[in-house]
Amino acid sequence: SMVRKPSSFICSISNDRGPELTYSNVPISKVFEDDLGIGGVISLLWFRRRLPSYATKFLEMILQLTADHGPCVSGAMNTIITTRAGKDLISSLVSGLLTIGTRFGGALDGAAQEFSKAFDSGLSPRAFVDSCRKANKLIPGIGHRIKSRNNPDLRVELVKQYVKKHFPSTKLLDYALAVENVTTSKKDNLILNVDGCIAICFVDLLRNCGEFTLEEANEYIKLGILNGMFVLGRSIGLIGHHLDQKRLRAPLYRHPWDDFLYLS
Ligand code: ACO
Ligand code: LMR
Repeated sequence: SMVRKPSSFICSISNDRGPELTYSNVPISKVFEDDLGIGGVISLLWFRRRLPSYATKFLEMILQLTADHGPCVSGAMNTIITTRAGKDLISSLVSGLLTIGTRFGGALDGAAQEFSKAFDSGLSPRAFVDSCRKANKLIPGIGHRIKSRNNPDLRVELVKQYVKKHFPSTKLLDYALAVENVTTSKKDNLILNVDGCIAICFVDLLRNCGEFTLEEANEYIKLGILNGMFVLGRSIGLIGHHLDQKRLRAPLYRHPWDDFLYLS
């Protein structure tokens, strides 16, 4: 009789044992036959299912427009400084990635959770903003250092246009834009930022594309998939900055004294 050795690991996304590698049971040759693209591969490995092409195009759009935002943001600065200290590609990349969090680039999961919680409990946009202020909490996905109502973020405009055109429902996006109306009336830069806009549209997608139950949609949001999208996208730019500094043979960086106020 066969005695199966108890397994200590489980994997539910890919299989390399047969003659052909599979992603969620889709053979790798089929990935190319059906031209699934990187969005299709993400949908298989992260969501364990094929998604309609308007959805995989949305995933690809996110990767393309989060890929970089110039050299001055936290992540790129860290990568550049690390490269200039002589470190390798992986060290420079992770040094940049480690800055991604609630303030920079990693506000997606929080935005998805906070906005959907407020929406589901029927809070008006103003009541939501007031409740956050009372709790002394910043609203994740709101606010930007350089972008504002008068200097809009084109990335956000592109996402909104795409989603309005292709998604079956934009209920949460409409709610988030009403929240933005409240916050920008207080301060011009308190816009729905790129993290917030992507996250909210993602919730609209998961809930209304017909591929997930509401329970599954909420579970995926809790898993941290949304920050995963920013991390994956921005890795493209961070690797670019590492290569750029090496190509330019940039020397070790030391910050000028006069840019620090020394208190001792
Ligand atoms: N919700 C509510 N109020 C806010 C928010 C917010 N998200 N952000 C700023 N404010 C308020 C502050 O409380 C402050 O009010 P006060 O003047 O009454 O004290 C005022 O706006 C200015 O705050 P600052 O911290 O100076 O704003 P700054 O422009 O420096 O901050 C930042 C920009 C860091 C993005 C901030 O808005 C924030 O933390 N937002 C939430 C996190 C987030 O979404 N980050 C992702 C940004 S996009 C990206 O990184 C790709
Ligand atoms: C980014 O994409 O890195 C930003 O929106 C953050 C910034 O300050 O530009």
